[in-house]
Amino acid sequence: MSHISILILLTIALVSFSYSEEGKKLYVKYNCNACHAPFERKTGPSFKEIAQRYGTSKKAMEKVAKLIINPNPSNWPGFAYMPPYNIPFEEAIKLAEYVLIHSQKEKVEKGHQNSIPSSEFF
Ligand code: HEC
Repeated sequence: MSHISILILLTIALVSFSYSEEGKKLYVKYNCNACHAPFERKTGPSFKEIAQRYGTSKKAMEKVAKLIINPNPSNWPGFAYMPPYNIPFEEAIKLAEYVLIHSQKEKVEKGHQNSIPSSEFF
């Protein structure tokens, strides 16, 4: 394999890695973790429950992105109301990808489910 193709592969790996982390950064930036956690119910449903309801298709991601911008509390009877997020659709899609896919791949450390170790970013 030439040096160039190794470089190209490395670039692709890096770009896809940072893309998957972008949703998590937005999740922290917008304080979603005040009400949500990947595997645990807080004020809002766990991302696991949400992923189980909608699945992980592209269509599901778009649906969930729209629900982040414009929540529909009647989808989750018994919960409080989620505030609407006036954010660009591209950000909502990255958040939806984190909610449905990437958050579910994180390791669960007992007692540390809500903490976001910065070491995971790098
Ligand atoms: C103040 C608390 C609060 C914050 C902050 C919050 N949520 Fe929610 N979220 C809720 C509650 C409560 C529900 C269930 C009731 C509802 O949908 O209104 C919910 C529901 C959801 C759903 C399911 C929507 C549906 O209709 O099935 C998704 C996805 C979601 N939140 C993602 C997010 C993301 C991403 C953020 C950050 C940008 C966020 N939430 C911030 C409280 C919150």
